[in-house]
This record gives sequence, C-alpha cells and structure tokens, in this order.
Amino acid sequence: MDRAEFEAVVAQAMLAPSAHNTQPARWALRDGGIDILADLSRRLPVGDPTDRDLEVSCGAAVEGTVLALAARGAGASVTLTEGTGGTRLRPIARVVPEGVAAPDDAALAAEMSGRLTHRAGFSPASKAALDNWADAHMTLVTAAAQIDWLAKQIDIASARIVRPKPFRAELLQWMRLRKDDPKYDADGLNRDVLVMDAITARLVPVVLGGKVYDLLSALGLGPLLSGEAARSSDASAIALFHWPAEGAMVDAGRAFYRTWLQASARGLVGWPAAALADDPDTRAAVSDRFGVSGDRVLFNALRLGVANKATPSRARLSLRDVII
Ligand SMILES: Cc1cc2nc3c(=O)[nH]c(=O)nc-3n(C[C@H](O)[C@H](O)[C@H](O)COP(=O)(O)O)c2cc1C
Repeated sequence: MDRAEFEAVVAQAMLAPSAHNTQPARWALRDGGIDILADLSRRLPVGDPTDRDLEVSCGAAVEGTVLALAARGAGASVTLTEGTGGTRLRPIARVVPEGVAAPDDAALAAEMSGRLTHRAGFSPASKAALDNWADAHMTLVTAAAQIDWLAKQIDIASARIVRPKPFRAELLQWMRLRKDDPKYDADGLNRDVLVMDAITARLVPVVLGGKVYDLLSALGLGPLLSGEAARSSDASAIALFHWPAEGAMVDAGRAFYRTWLQASARGLVGWPAAALADDPDTRAAVSDRFGVSGDRVLFNALRLGVANKATPSRARLSLRDVII
C-alpha cells in the first residue's frame, strides 16, 4: 500500500463514530500494514473510567479501516494488539490487506459516508425496514410499550450519570457551544449535531457547570433536564448491544459499527444511548427485562427510525491529526 492509498483509507475510516466524538483512534502505515492505536489523551476518565467506550470507539475505527479496504476490493486480516503501549499511545490492532473483500463488506463500506448520529427525532419506519434482522450481539426491541419503557430509562439513567459535577465538567469540555470555537467542526459535540438553539447553548454551561443543576436534580427534575424521552419514544426500534463479558470491547465496537451501517443500508438512522449501559442499576434492569444472559455485558443501545429532518453534518479532525 502506498502513502496516497493509506491516506484515502484513513480518510474513510475516520468517519467511524466515537463517544463524545473524541476520535481516539490513530493510524500508522508500517511494513505494508496499518497499525491502529488509541490516543490516551482522548480518554474520558470520568465518563468512561474503564475505557470501555474508548475501546468500542477504536473498534469502530478498526472496522472502518477494514471496510475502507473492502471499498478498494481488498480483504484484510485483523489482529488485536496486546499491551498497554506508551503513556500516550496504546496499540489496538493491526490490519493487513490480504486477499479479496467479502461482497457484503463492499456494500457496507458504501454506507460509511452517509451514516451520522441523528438526534433530531424520528418518523416511523416501515415494518420491512426492521424485518429479518438478527445478530447474536443485538436484541432488537420493536414493541411500542417496551420502547416507551426504555425511553424513560434512558432519561433516568442520564440524570444519574450527569449528577456528579466532575462528569458535567468533562462533558462541557467536549461540548462546542459557540460557533467561533476553533474546534467547532473538528471534534466534540457542537450545537448543530446536538440540535441545540443559540439560547439553550448559552444556558448549558450555566446549568451544567453550576449549582442550578444541583438544585433541579435535588428536586427530582434530573430526568426532565436530559429531555430525550419524547424523541426516544418516536424510535421504531431500539437495538440493545451486548458482548461476552470476557470478550474484547474492540471487537464489540467492530460489531456495533457494522450493525449501525446495516441500519443505514435499511434506510434507518441511529442515535446511541450509552446511558442504558453506563448506569449499573439501569444496565441490570434492562439486561433482566430483555434476557441478556449473565455472561454477556450490555455495552450500548441504538435508537433507530427514519430521519424526520436532515441530520447535521459531522465534525472531524484533519487527516494530519490522526495519522502518526
Ligand atoms: C461508544 C459510543 C457511545 C456513544 N454514546 C452516545 C450517547 O450516549 N448519546 C449520543 O447522543 N451519542 C452517542 N454516541 C454518538 C457519538 O456522539 C457520535 O458518534 C460522534 O459525535 C460522531 O458523530 P457521528 O456519529 O455523526 O459521525 C456514541 C458513540 C459511540 C461510538
């Protein structure tokens, strides 16, 4: 693989989703293969203390790399890398072009440029869009009453997670609330992707950063503040993602991204709800209700439906930032 081909592959692979749009994956061309590493300065020490989401995000980047090669007709062998690496970069996986691409992969690769996180709300999906869709790592919830229950749990879990001040401080660091922020189109969550008007954007630091949140939270209004329940309830399905407890979260991230791209191929948009997996009590209640066995761990959820309006475009670092 020459340098130009490598850069074209990375440009496509970096469209993969990542928690808070931290984009922790880094790529290096070494001995004809691609090494993928995690930039540990992009960790979320408060929100993701075990690095689960960092690994899931890097796994999505690994799958993006495999699919970008498939788009060029090449197959790939993937080896997860052991070890903790240096203080700044942790090796995640090595992807080596090998043989020819699986036909399914070339088709999935075509979905990468159009897939975006859609937070603006859903219109109903046709039954056909959700039919004949099963995967060992996914439980697809389609009954309206169950979706309503999950929608409430998302807000309850979010309120619990957001309550500690350090979490709010970390979240604020990754929010790009002013259009003149130099990182507005580069990383984190800007107010376009959050579908947030200018007035709300001004209030967010006041509420999240200060005592107002504590007061509202003490009054039991936390779930109302996250305010996603109505939009979550409009989802036509919520996919729950689980993985063997002993398995690698990098592999879980690969599977998660593939399923999201399959959703795109079915004409659906997705909106993760990691809160269901982050809050221990909620994770236990959801796992119990939907029969996720004890040897598997719920690691994310994806609200699915048809986009009711255009999805704002994505923010990404430049190639220069992610190639090492
Ligand atoms: C592991 C993981 C967890 C995520 N959790 C959430 C979430 O709880 N809520 C949310 O709105 N988006 C969530 N996202 C979506 C990211 O914010 C999104 O992928 C990122 O901002 C990049 O934008 P894009 O998906 O439109 O390319 C998550 C993504 C990943 C990979």
